Amino acid sequence: METIQLNNGNTCPAIGIGTFMLSPADAQRSVREALKMGYRLVDTANAYVNERAVGRGLRDSGVRREEVFLSTKLWPSEYENPNAVDETLARLGVDAVDLLYIHQPAGNWLAGYRQLEKAYREGKAKAIGISNFEGRYIEELQTKWDIVPQFIQVEAHPYFTQQELRKTLDKHGIRLMSWYPLGHGDKSLLQEPVFASLAEKYGKTPAQVILRWHTQMGFAVIPGSKNVDHIRDNLNILDFRLTDGEMAQIAKLDKGVRYYHRTDAQLAQFASWQPAYEAE
Ligand SMILES: NC(=O)c1ccc[n+]([C@@H]2O[C@H](COP(=O)([O-])OP(=O)(O)OC[C@H]3O[C@@H](n4cnc5c(N)ncnc54)[C@H](OP(=O)(O)O)[C@@H]3O)[C@@H](O)[C@H]2O)c1
Repeated sequence: METIQLNNGNTCPAIGIGTFMLSPADAQRSVREALKMGYRLVDTANAYVNERAVGRGLRDSGVRREEVFLSTKLWPSEYENPNAVDETLARLGVDAVDLLYIHQPAGNWLAGYRQLEKAYREGKAKAIGISNFEGRYIEELQTKWDIVPQFIQVEAHPYFTQQELRKTLDKHGIRLMSWYPLGHGDKSLLQEPVFASLAEKYGKTPAQVILRWHTQMGFAVIPGSKNVDHIRDNLNILDFRLTDGEMAQIAKLDKGVRYYHRTDAQLAQFASWQPAYEAE
């Protein structure tokens, strides 16, 4: 497994499994099967309402806890809850996570960030991160953080490569973890002719070529899937390498266009929404 070096000396696997929009049953199965296949990075969130299932999948897999890099995110409704981190760990059934994000720059996000810093100092989070903190939010955070985060999780794929943001990340050694790495399954991205021709050259699928591109960009990548064949394919991308010329060809697809456009009104809604967590 390729790993990514973090600014606190830790490492993180370059490829993992994402669990956004997976029901608890699907999340449990996808995580269990992924870990059995060799995945060692799992991403979830309070808001996905599947943390208990992810914890069950981890335990069912038989893989030892210390071998897995487990990432989750506090939702804004938790930012002022002093027990948010402990409650998150309890849902997952673990003593600590390897990465803890604040999910959105909504509500009292600075209180949320302070909770991350406290969890980091207490060893309950081995690394911390910000999610969706582009533009003015990361600018403001830079004036307030005591601990520089290790990761940012943002939308990134060949149509939207976060060129602006990466200048700030490089200054602080913050690593990028891509969400919507396959365009959330969008056919037009998967069907770009450049991926078809590279897939043919390397004996891979277009999705595998896109995921390889992410890792060669230096991004950690967490494709979501409930299809065991896709989960297997998505890990099987380290036995070929795109040339510099091929990376340059793919770079031409960058349109600076996102799939997901968040508005200020949505941020306000995020701040007032409370996840209805799974029962025991
Ligand atoms: N921080 C945030 O705000 C945020 C937002 C969104 C997502 N995320 C994280 O990022 C992860 C990835 O994002 P995502 O799951 O929304 O989008 P994605 O990984 O870009 O795409 C997932 C879609 O692609 C399909 N897919 C997966 N592997 C495939 C393959 N090899 N070939 C063809 N299709 C494939 C999946 O369908 P099948 O199930 O049929 O395989 C699913 O419909 C999430 O799971 C979550 O952990 C974070």
